[in-house]
Amino acid sequence: MSVSPSPVPTDIETFAFWERPRDERQAGFRWLRDNDPVSWHPPAESLLLPPELNKVGFWAVTRHADVVEASRSKNFQSGKGVFMEDMPIEVIKGALSFLVEDPPRHTELRGIVQSAFSPARVKKIEGWIRQHAHDVVAGIAPDGKADMVPQLAKVLPGLIFAHYVGVTDDEMRDKTVHAADMLGSWNDPEYTKTMAPIEVFGHAAQTLAGVAMELAALRRQEPGDDVVTWLTQTTFEGEEMSDMDIASFFVMLSGASNDTTGHAIAHSLIELQRHPDQQAWLLEDFEGRIDNAVEELLRWRAPILHFRRTALADYELNGAEIKAGDKVVLWYDSANFDEAVFDDPFTLDLSRKPNKHLAFGGGGLHFCLGNALGRQLLKCALREVYTQLPDFQLEEPQEGFSNLFNSMRHLPARWTPAA
Ligand code: HEM
Repeated sequence: MSVSPSPVPTDIETFAFWERPRDERQAGFRWLRDNDPVSWHPPAESLLLPPELNKVGFWAVTRHADVVEASRSKNFQSGKGVFMEDMPIEVIKGALSFLVEDPPRHTELRGIVQSAFSPARVKKIEGWIRQHAHDVVAGIAPDGKADMVPQLAKVLPGLIFAHYVGVTDDEMRDKTVHAADMLGSWNDPEYTKTMAPIEVFGHAAQTLAGVAMELAALRRQEPGDDVVTWLTQTTFEGEEMSDMDIASFFVMLSGASNDTTGHAIAHSLIELQRHPDQQAWLLEDFEGRIDNAVEELLRWRAPILHFRRTALADYELNGAEIKAGDKVVLWYDSANFDEAVFDDPFTLDLSRKPNKHLAFGGGGLHFCLGNALGRQLLKCALREVYTQLPDFQLEEPQEGFSNLFNSMRHLPARWTPAA
């Protein structure tokens, strides 16, 4: 199919594209959805691989229906990597566990922790998630000001994750949260100032793996009611799980749960302040409306922009002739604005229903395992902010640079200090 040149930048493979303001990036994705929905791109600019090894281009899938089709098809696999940028395979296998596995390994590994994150289990622990959220916000309330990213959006998911996996020591928890942030930020200048990108990823993965092994040793001696104890007591392929398998699980779970939820909290606070009518609508009946609102906030600023698959065999997707071995990148943040699915997609409408957003993926085997936990965390964080800091006002936010996350680095806020 021949496509006329785009009047707006659609060079999503470049870093320059990701330095553009969000509305320009969205214009690019809108053009792709309308004109070239499964488009071919040259190799993604990479700070991880030298140019001679970075020679593989990719398909960008930008429409909702196509992202869903590819997510659910057995033809598109995760075992060769899930990011637009390639990474050495041994690095991702060591750090991303079943996120980068295909059946049957994926099914078995995911099955080990599936029930820990089920909606029923999250409902059961709602009380302590709520209590943690209350305590974090109560801790900053007397100060009258805070940077809501480190002091709320990162710390709350970090506390919940730590509790889940059995990290009881504060220092170990802070180390885990910081390393989880680094893991998804290998091309963020904040980190690449002092380290090469592959070192940022490697250092983060090694730090997390070290924590996991320390914890595994501890939990073999003193079992608790947590995911690491669970992993030390389970068998995989007929044998006890190795320290390496436990570490890979831990690294992946910490990355999957901390960054995503943290960015969701930060972006939700900003977007509600930017849309005072929507914020007022929510606050009129917070408990009655928050579940619906959370879905729209996740549609509006999906924390994860893309994940990638690799084609097992030739496949035609919406007219594109995908060949076996091709990289196929699924753009959730584009699909969430697809006019074919969402009425008036560029309007934030917290009452939107149904809301078939793809913030947790397009369905299929890899659909977000932590979706119930992510939703609950966002809900609890917003509840506490609006209850305990009723007049809080955000100042200039500082977004992070990323082609993987809708990321947020700093979010200063002020309010009347609590007495
Ligand atoms: C708002 C918060 C979150 C968002 C937006 C999010 C988003 C996603 C997305 C887009 C995927 C990939 C889906 C696919 O490839 O089809 C994913 C996978 C995953 N998420 Fe989440 N996530 C969130 C929170 C969490 C939390 C709190 C956990 C806690 C453990 C978690 C654990 C996972 C895991 C383990 C996977 C891999 C599943 C697999 O490969 O089978 N996520 N998430």
